Amino acid sequence: MKTALITGVTGQDGSYLAELLLDKGYDVHGMIRRSSVDYHERIEHLKGNKRFHLHYGDLGDSMSLVRIIGAVRPDELYNLAAQSHVQVSFDVPEYSGDVDALGCLRVLEAVRLCGLAESCRVYQASTSELFGKVEEVPQRETTPFHPFSPYAVAKQYGFWIVKEYREAYGMYCCNGILFNHESERRGETFVTRKITLAAARIAQGKQDKLYLGNLSSLRDWGYAKDYVQCMWLMLQQERPDDYVIATGEQHSVRDFCRLAFHCVGIELDFTGEGENEKGIDRRTGRVLVEVSPAFYRPTDVVNLWGDPAKARRELGWDPTSTPFEELVRLMVENDKELVRQHEEYRT
Ligand code: NAP
Ligand code: GDD
Repeated sequence: MKTALITGVTGQDGSYLAELLLDKGYDVHGMIRRSSVDYHERIEHLKGNKRFHLHYGDLGDSMSLVRIIGAVRPDELYNLAAQSHVQVSFDVPEYSGDVDALGCLRVLEAVRLCGLAESCRVYQASTSELFGKVEEVPQRETTPFHPFSPYAVAKQYGFWIVKEYREAYGMYCCNGILFNHESERRGETFVTRKITLAAARIAQGKQDKLYLGNLSSLRDWGYAKDYVQCMWLMLQQERPDDYVIATGEQHSVRDFCRLAFHCVGIELDFTGEGENEKGIDRRTGRVLVEVSPAFYRPTDVVNLWGDPAKARRELGWDPTSTPFEELVRLMVENDKELVRQHEEYRT
């Protein structure tokens, strides 16, 4: 039986990955942070499983990493923990740098200090944000990086330190350059979930309007459940390498909105430009979506579109298993039910 350690196990990806590894028969250890509320929504259902173990630690605390890694001695370590919100990284740039850049170094160094450099395979949650102000469309493994936020700059350090440990110490460590992936468990301030929750609330009369930032921003959105399989596949190859994981399809925030509202029975027409653009209910003429500059970023990444050819070829991964329309439908159905169940669900 293999043993895996997941940092960021309480997050969207960490929770799906834990489920996947438990299904595969792994002993799964997760690192959690102390918080004032001892409830971890996304992994609560796994807590009774005898092969699922939790440890307190923090990517900002080397000693906790050495303690946990030394005790667990994982065969595979998935470093998913991060301050993962791009807009928030402009508000907390130093913290984002510490956790997202140095946190990755601390994990790699802890593996070495515990004498596991030869036996422990490491996955680093790298990101399409590295392509930032894009220099090529679509983006592939050879596309130059141009990080465009404190988050992306920190993740670029993580990317290179992983490569460095691979070359300097012969460690088996990989960067998964994952494009945006969403799900019913997506954090509520990322744009997709913000839209699906708002569509559900508006359709049930529990919210009047949705305020968004840049509606023209383009993303390559996939399904998180499909993407955690790639993380595992990367650590099963003969040699460590870095891979772009994407669907190869691109849509705008506006497209996502139109489709999400369609799923709750509202057809939206967009009129106007920039800050004056509005999404109007075709049937009633009501304005349901407006632009608020509060959601603009000092620098915004607006043209992400990945080429998953290498992952398809070398990992045998199918990027089209959950089409865009299905992803949006799954998220909206989930949120319709959530809003229905909880009269005042976080409005
Ligand atoms: P998420 O839902 O925001 O989860 C982040 C996780 O990191 C949570 O478990 C969080 O714990 C934990 N964490 C944050 N700061 C920490 C710290 N200082 N020490 C220990 N744990 C800490 O993110 P996600 O969407 O699952 O993404 C997983 C990883 O993939 C992240 O590294 C993200 O940057 C990267 N990524 C995500 C995407 C995407 O589209 N989802 C794409 C490319 C790369 P709490 O629950 O306690 O906050
Ligand atoms: N969050 C948010 N809220 N974004 C908005 C809004 C809004 O109200 N309105 C427009 N957007 C635009 C953002 O400006 C951005 O261009 C796009 O929607 C996507 O924003 P997010 O959903 O916040 O995701 P992200 O692309 O910035 O970052 C996510 O994907 C990265 C991979 O490319 C995160 O999961 C990162 O951790 C991940 O690395």
